[in-house]
Amino acid sequence: MKIIKKPEELQKIIEGLKKKGKTIGLVPTMGALHNGHISLIKKSVSQNDVTVVSVYVNPIQFGPNEDYEKYPRPIEKDIAVCKENKVDFLFLPTNKTLYNDNFSTYIYNNKLSKIMCGVTRPIHFQGVCTVVAKLFNIAMPTRAYFGLKDYQQYIIVKQMAKDLNFNINVIGCPIVREKFGLAMSSRNTYLSQTSKQNACGIYKSLCLAKKQFSDGKKLKDIKKNITKNISAIPESKIDYVEIRNSENLDLATDKDKSIVIAVAVQVSNVRLIDNIVCKK
Ligand code: PAJ
Repeated sequence: MKIIKKPEELQKIIEGLKKKGKTIGLVPTMGALHNGHISLIKKSVSQNDVTVVSVYVNPIQFGPNEDYEKYPRPIEKDIAVCKENKVDFLFLPTNKTLYNDNFSTYIYNNKLSKIMCGVTRPIHFQGVCTVVAKLFNIAMPTRAYFGLKDYQQYIIVKQMAKDLNFNINVIGCPIVREKFGLAMSSRNTYLSQTSKQNACGIYKSLCLAKKQFSDGKKLKDIKKNITKNISAIPESKIDYVEIRNSENLDLATDKDKSIVIAVAVQVSNVRLIDNIVCKK
């Protein structure tokens, strides 16, 4: 595995590989790699000739009062995980190499960035789209892998690729969970054992909501019930509970065949997101 820090260097290597007809898989991450990330890496390795993983804690997607400074950065462990999983190139850019002194061009989805997580994190998806577009231009992947854990991010990146004519297949990968259902996240390390146990109630509530959907309950009742169930979790504070069309994130109606129930919940002041897709 080769570690590359300079965007131009990676770009040059990828150009050479593409001339030889190689397919490239890209897995963008912010590191502190866990089994969720590893599932994306494994998929990329199985579907492409060459896999590039980026590890970069992107400052422009964090709001002023968020956890940019304290975000975990266990880089030696991440390097070992990438090696073990047969990654070909680990891209480790720095703020300096990625954002020049006059950096001033941003990408913003004018519709999807304003809803759900975008309400309390107004600059978040602009930061995500901008860095992902840069990574797309640097790694020029055939396929790029995103987890459905960050469902809104996945839909926004897919829309960006379509809107801006990136010739890249954006692939959504299933949510990987811990033993009792908590969605894996680098931020779970902020939780105490008790808070982790409490947080498992989020997935339980989502599963119950999915059951109610398949039983034909009305969306407004499902929303009422899941809100009640999550509110009852100790240490919890709901940021949002949303039921949306799973393709375009429009507000779902009872006629929709495929919906996503998405939640953001603070458990002991750690903001967690999770979701479940339900189909008729
Ligand atoms: P990060 O939170 O490190 O996540 C990197 C990728 O791993 C994302 O596509 C995310 O959805 C996926 N992922 C995280 N936890 C997962 C889980 N439990 N199951 C399946 N996939 C999971 O998302 C980001 O970084 C950043 O916003 C990024 C796209 C890298 C841009 O900076």
